Amino acid sequence: MRRVLLLPGDGIGPEVVGAAREVLEAASSAFDLELAFEEGEIGAAAIRSSGEPLPEETARLARESDAVLLGAVGHPDFDGAEVRPEAGLLALRRELGVFANLRPVLALPSLLSSSPLKPELVEGVDLLIVRELTGGIYFGEKEEGTERASDLCLYSREEVERVARVAFEAARLRKGRVTSVDKANVLATSRMWRRVVAEVAKEYPDVELDNLLVDAAAMFLVREPSRFDVILTENMFGDILSDEAAVLPGSMGMLPSASLGEEGSPGLFEPVHGSAPDIAGIGRANPYATILSAAMMLRYSLGSPEAAGAIEGAVRSAMEEGVLTADLGGQATTQEAKEAVIRHLKQAVAR
Ligand code: NAD
Ligand code: IPM
Ligand code: MN
Repeated sequence: MRRVLLLPGDGIGPEVVGAAREVLEAASSAFDLELAFEEGEIGAAAIRSSGEPLPEETARLARESDAVLLGAVGHPDFDGAEVRPEAGLLALRRELGVFANLRPVLALPSLLSSSPLKPELVEGVDLLIVRELTGGIYFGEKEEGTERASDLCLYSREEVERVARVAFEAARLRKGRVTSVDKANVLATSRMWRRVVAEVAKEYPDVELDNLLVDAAAMFLVREPSRFDVILTENMFGDILSDEAAVLPGSMGMLPSASLGEEGSPGLFEPVHGSAPDIAGIGRANPYATILSAAMMLRYSLGSPEAAGAIEGAVRSAMEEGVLTADLGGQATTQEAKEAVIRHLKQAVAR
């Protein structure tokens, strides 16, 4: 029995995690997976019921699980509050030690017209952002006063090395190219980053490495996105570039992610998007990013690559059939999108 902890969180989180759970249940019976689901609280929902964005009970359930599937955290009621829902997610990433965040960006043919970019630019885009997730400016010491404030950006050699290895290993299974993104013309952390990545690259002579400054990378990501294979970058640059990359497939609602730590520790799987308060509770959220995150969970943490592939294929078929939510220019509801995926999954397995 594999233990999966579901953390729906806030806003559209419960809607998209509910949809992904049903898809996982369908995959579970089709592939005899024996998944046991538990649920926990995180974010604004947790602050309301216990005062903490990551209650100890949730942290314990996460540590004891094989994998965690999270929706999103964040609620406008807590803008400017002392304790923010987002702190729960950061604490969970840190607690699980998930230092490598994989964010694949795939422009499927059925989505070419959903992208605000010209189809010929987006065609063939298949890139992977490997974002360092538990270090850098997010986790450095903070000082917060009314007249002065600071956030320390700190990286150790070891933190850079281990995430770089993840990127090079991934590139080996893809097109064999890593683009490391930094701001080495200004930042000391970036200069060390670049040196350490170059050293790690020597262990991977079969992988090609190049370096880009983050401002230029932001430009190339929309001007010539198909030049990228694996983008390796630090925590905050990865956060920003991954939202930018979401315009390639056309919507935030399409990007899944996997956050991985040491071998054997539970992985954390979540869509790249947030709690989307503007569309929460009306059944309009695109569940594909969370469903694809569940597929990544099956592949990376639960040892079921077949079931993962079947779910990814079913999402693709649903989109080819034209089942698109409003963010992709369609009219489908969250429910309809989920039902289409389950239907295609069952059809594919029956064949
Ligand atoms: P957001 O990603 O929630 O929304 C940005 C835009 O994309 C909105 O217009 C939203 O409607 C749309 N969108 C996002 N996901 C969608 C989906 N699945 N289907 C259809 N449309 C979708 O970003 P934001 O508005 O800047 O942030 C809202 C809250 O979410 C904030 O509190 C933020 O801190 C939090 N947040 C959480 C996470 C996370 O939990 N991993 C990630 C990003 C933002
Ligand atoms: C993300 C989010 C989070 C981040 C926030 C909610 C803390 O934007 O997962 O991309 O910045 O990492
Ligand atoms: Mn983000």
